[in-house]
Amino acid sequence: MTVTLYNQSLSSINSDLTLEFITPKELEVHLHRDLLTQAGFKAESEQLCTLHEHRLLVCALDEQSAEAYRIAMTAALKTSMNYGYTSLKVSTPKERFFSALLDGVLLGSYKFDSYKSKPKVSTLTEVIFAHESTDDFFTFQSIYDQTTVIAKATNFVRNLVNQTPYDMTPQAMAVVAQDLANRNNLECTILDVNGLHEEKMEAMIAVGRASVNPPRLIHLSYKPNNPKKVITLVGKGLTYDSGGLSLKAAASMVTMKMDKAGGCAVMGMIKAISELQLDIEVHAFVGAVENMIGADAYKPDDVLCAKNGKTIEVRNTDAEGRLVLADVLGYAQEKVKSDYIFDYATLTGACMVALGPYTTGVMGHNNALKNSFVEAAEQSGEYCGILPFNRQLKKLIKSELADVCNVSSKPYGGAITAALFLDNFIDEDMKEKWVHFDIAGSAYTESAWDVHTYGGTGAGVRMTLEWLLKLSKEGQY
Ligand code: BES
Ligand code: ZN
Ligand code: ZN
Repeated sequence: MTVTLYNQSLSSINSDLTLEFITPKELEVHLHRDLLTQAGFKAESEQLCTLHEHRLLVCALDEQSAEAYRIAMTAALKTSMNYGYTSLKVSTPKERFFSALLDGVLLGSYKFDSYKSKPKVSTLTEVIFAHESTDDFFTFQSIYDQTTVIAKATNFVRNLVNQTPYDMTPQAMAVVAQDLANRNNLECTILDVNGLHEEKMEAMIAVGRASVNPPRLIHLSYKPNNPKKVITLVGKGLTYDSGGLSLKAAASMVTMKMDKAGGCAVMGMIKAISELQLDIEVHAFVGAVENMIGADAYKPDDVLCAKNGKTIEVRNTDAEGRLVLADVLGYAQEKVKSDYIFDYATLTGACMVALGPYTTGVMGHNNALKNSFVEAAEQSGEYCGILPFNRQLKKLIKSELADVCNVSSKPYGGAITAALFLDNFIDEDMKEKWVHFDIAGSAYTESAWDVHTYGGTGAGVRMTLEWLLKLSKEGQY
């Protein structure tokens, strides 16, 4: 889909379909009120009506909010793709809603059809935004440029997440990282199993041991001159999570190709950061591993020694993401001294139980930092909710045998106990600078919602970019 922004009036633009957003109040005085009313259109939430004879598509806008615009634009776009029209034009909204409208088009039109033998093609290939005023056109142009980069990075993440575990193995993820590095002028270091042994990353190695697709540790870095801050991003990149010997039930295994979404997200983030040329140094680390079964699989009852020297009692091989992250967090902190460290992981089903399937769980020790992400998420169109730590939950991952246990002794609060497990692998001086994002629910969907179509959503990218853009503007949080 080509999306263009013109400094022209709507009427002067050539297009075969015009989109108009209208509120119930606006409907009362609309030129085609009678026609629309006869068609049953009341301008109620998510209602659409096409007046083909006027080449007009009207879309209800139930409130003046970015979210309403985003959802309405997505719905309008999907409808307009179903007819034979080739282009759609629409006036720009108020400045604060423009980015949401663009997301509706750029993210809402996304479709992953690489595995279809005959992909359906829509005739609609262009969406044109008409912005008549010249006074603030430059502002709209820069919103357009920035939003486009971030949306493309989000779609890049979706493309990676949606690939099958056969295609997107740890080695394949490393190839994607190297290719991104070449295109975007990033530094790229890849460790194979030998490298992981040298770095004493035995927990990560154990998780990947039974797979024919050996693990890779990916480190991408973007280093501008005189950076304002240094940020470390860490992603869980389980290219497949079968559960290991603590094998998942058949139904729960389906969709587990998405367990690499955190790793894919940090690659998308550094892609956008480098394209926007932010004055912030960013390091993205991905633990790309496949959790399988086999004669040499790691077992419940094993004790693993992580990179930072802490020992872990394994009681469930399906709680593998935290083992991989333990080592990658340790590696990242040893290699890079950063101002903040954020990790993104499809870590627990419990996060979905706690917050629902749309919301990312935010955990960490620094309340102000967590709140700043909740705000950034809201600004960017993602949902985030804070899950609080407490001393009692911390006791649940104590181990009689080793330093810490990889699962909790109680079945409740699993998202938080997983984060408290990760806390064991955060250095003392980084405690207040760390935030963990559980994207188990938000990273993937089998039913469309908001700007998300079937599959990977790209969760984390928009909110983190929003946060980083503010950091770049203001210099600190
Ligand atoms: N990858 C899963 C978490 C997950 C579940 C992500 C559903 C997306 C959707 C993770 O590795 C896992 O299996 N976690 C276990 C932890 C348990 C064994 C303590 C879980 O959530 O059941
Ligand atoms: Zn698992
Ligand atoms: Zn997993």
